Amino acid sequence: MTTATQSLSDASRSFIERGPGKLFIGNEWVDAADGRTFGTENPATGEEITQVAHAGAEDVDRAVKAAAAALEGPWGKQPAHARGQQMMALAAALEANTDELAELEALDQGKPVAYAKMVDVRLAVAHLQYYAGWPTKIEGETIPVSWPNAFVYTRREPVGVCGQIIPWNFPLLMAAWKIAPALAAGCTVILKPAEQTPLTALRLAELVAEVGLPEGVVNVLTGDGETGKAIVDHPGIAKIAFTGSTEVGRAIGETAGRMLKRVTLELGGKSANIILPDADLEQAIPGSFQGLYFNTGQACNAASRLYVQKDQYDTVVSALADAAKGAKVGPGLDPESQFGPVVSKAQHERVLSYIESGLSEGAEAVAGGGATEGANGGYFINPTLFAGVEDDMKIAREEIFGPVLVAMPYDDIEEVARRANDSEYGLAAGVWTRDVGNAHRLAHLLKAGSVYINVWGASDPAAPFGGYKASGIGREMGHANLDAYLETKTVWTALG
Ligand code: NAI
Ligand code: MG
Repeated sequence: MTTATQSLSDASRSFIERGPGKLFIGNEWVDAADGRTFGTENPATGEEITQVAHAGAEDVDRAVKAAAAALEGPWGKQPAHARGQQMMALAAALEANTDELAELEALDQGKPVAYAKMVDVRLAVAHLQYYAGWPTKIEGETIPVSWPNAFVYTRREPVGVCGQIIPWNFPLLMAAWKIAPALAAGCTVILKPAEQTPLTALRLAELVAEVGLPEGVVNVLTGDGETGKAIVDHPGIAKIAFTGSTEVGRAIGETAGRMLKRVTLELGGKSANIILPDADLEQAIPGSFQGLYFNTGQACNAASRLYVQKDQYDTVVSALADAAKGAKVGPGLDPESQFGPVVSKAQHERVLSYIESGLSEGAEAVAGGGATEGANGGYFINPTLFAGVEDDMKIAREEIFGPVLVAMPYDDIEEVARRANDSEYGLAAGVWTRDVGNAHRLAHLLKAGSVYINVWGASDPAAPFGGYKASGIGREMGHANLDAYLETKTVWTALG
C-alpha cells in the first residue's frame, strides 16, 4: 500500500488491495496475453497507486470474440425490456457505490471528491437511467411506397460490437456516456479507459458482473494509445466512439473511413464566452470563472476564450483575477480543495509551456502564471488569467486543457461573433446578457454544437452535445447518440 491509499475509506482501499490489474473480458478477469502491466498514479503526489494490465492486439481480439458472442447469444436474443432493466440495475449499483467511486476518481484523476460525487457519479447514473428508458422505444416505420401490393417496413438494429475509447478528464462519466446509448441500442462494447485514469472503469466492470449483465456485453481493456489503435484497427468492431484530442480523432477518422466503420468523435475546443454590456455581472463573472477553471480547466467545452466589451473589460478582468488568486488549489481528497492538480506530468508540462508561450508573446498574467509552489510532487498549477491577449496568439487559438483563461476586449456584437467563429473548433459558445433578442441573435450566429445563455457547461443526458468543425463528428446524449448505434434495415414484401 502506498501513502496515497492510507487516507481512503475501507471500500476504496479494499478495491486497490484486491489488485485491479486484470482485463475484464466476458465477465472474467484475465491477465494481458503478454503479461504486460503499467502503473497509474495519483496526480496530487506523483506516486503510483497500483499496476493495471496493458491490453494488446491479442486481448482486443479475445474481447471482440466475447462481445460478438454476446450479441449472437443471450444479450441479442432477449427482449428489449430486459436490456432496460439490466441498465437500471447497473445505474442503481453505481449510485449505491457513489462514495467509493467518487473517492477512486479523486485519487486517480485528482479532482475534488465533492465534485466527483456531485458531477461525475451523479451524471453517470443519470445517463444509464435515461438510456435505460430507450430500448422499448426504438421503433421502425411502415413506408408507403409507390408500388402496388408491397409491404415495406424498417427495423432499427444494433450496429454490432463497438470500440469505445475515452479520456481522463471525467473517467467514469465518459464511460457512462459511451456505454449507455450503446447498450440501449442493443450493441456490445469494448471500453478502453485512458491510461492515466483506469480505476473507476475497472470498478464499473466489477459492478457489471455483480448485477449480472450477460458475459461479453461490456468488456474493459486497460491500456494506452497502442491498445486504442488495436481496437480501432480490429475488423470485428463495427463502430468506434472516441472522446479525446483532435489529433488522435483525426487518425481514428482516417482508419474508420478506410475500413468504413461507423464513427463518432468528440474532440477538442476553444470555446468563446461572450459577456454583453447588459449582462448581470454578478452572474456572468462567477459563471465565466467556473466555466473555465472547473475541473482544473480540463473540459472539452471549457469557456477558454473570454470576450468582454471594452468598457467593462478592466472591471471583469480584475474580478476574475481576484477570484483566481483566492482559489484553493489542493489534492482532490482534501475536502477544502476547490481545484485539484492537472492529471499527469505530461499535462503539467504541456500547460506550463502554454503559459510560457503566452508570456513570451507579450500577454500579461494578471493571476497565476506558473506551477504551484511547494506542491510536493503533485501536478498543481495556479489558476492563471491572461489579459492583453491578441486573437492570433497561440494561447488564444489552441486548446490548453488546463487552468488558463485568456480575456480579450471587443467593441460590438457583429465583431465579437466574427472573432468567436474564427477558430478551427466549434464545440461550445456562451453569451451573458439580459436582452433576449441579442441572446438568440448570437446563439444563431455562433458556429458551435452547444450555446449556453446565462449559464455555462449545463449538461443533461437528454440534450445532444457535440462539435461543429474540428470539434468532432456526431452527437453524444439524447436520441441523436442512440441513432449512432443503430442501423436501419428496410424489409420489402411483395403481397402478390
Ligand atoms: P489522447 O487523445 O491521446 O487520449 C485520449 C484517449 O485516446 C486515451 O484513452 C488514449 O489512450 C487513446 N489514444 C491515444 N492514441 C490513440 C490512438 N492512436 N488510437 C486510438 N486511441 C488512442 O489525449 P491526451 O494525450 O491524453 O491529451 C492530449 C490533449 O488532448 C489534451 O491536452 C487536450 O487538449 C486534449 N484532450 C481532449 C479531451 C476532450 O475531452 N476533448 C480529453 C482528453 C484530452
Ligand atoms: Mg491516475
